Amino acid sequence: MTKVSVIRWQVQVFLFLLALLAVASAQAAGSAAAGKDKARACQVCHGKGGVSSNPTYPILAGQHAKYLVKQLKAFRSGTRKDPIMNGIAAKMSDQDMEDVAAFFESSQSGFMRLR
Ligand code: HEC
Repeated sequence: MTKVSVIRWQVQVFLFLLALLAVASAQAAGSAAAGKDKARACQVCHGKGGVSSNPTYPILAGQHAKYLVKQLKAFRSGTRKDPIMNGIAAKMSDQDMEDVAAFFESSQSGFMRLR
């Protein structure tokens, strides 16, 4: 191989890896639409759209998605302990967490209403 073709080959590999990364990060981002469906299971306790009126169940509506994902992962790993949420988070994939978090973040009526 000539030096130029080696560089071309390296550029192609680099672009391929960049494309893979773009696909991976696109999947990691939560979809509020998909999250709306998945969040139905949370409604019993956290209220419709995450607006809970019962202090036992935290308000999730309007909360930052990043925080919600962090808490769900902590419940799943057991770092944060709660008999109910440990069981629920154990059944969730990373994508499920990103999706429900995107949905609850977009649901504005919780914290916004309280301010
Ligand atoms: C059977 C009742 C119940 C259901 C169903 C439930 N949760 Fe929870 N959730 C709780 C309780 C209770 C807590 C408070 C735990 C604590 O005190 O640490 C909680 C806490 C949380 C927190 C932490 C909030 C914060 O401010 O730190 C998140 C995030 C959460 N739940 C997400 C979900 C999601 C997403 C679902 C649906 C997939 C769900 N929960 C379903 C009872 C429930």
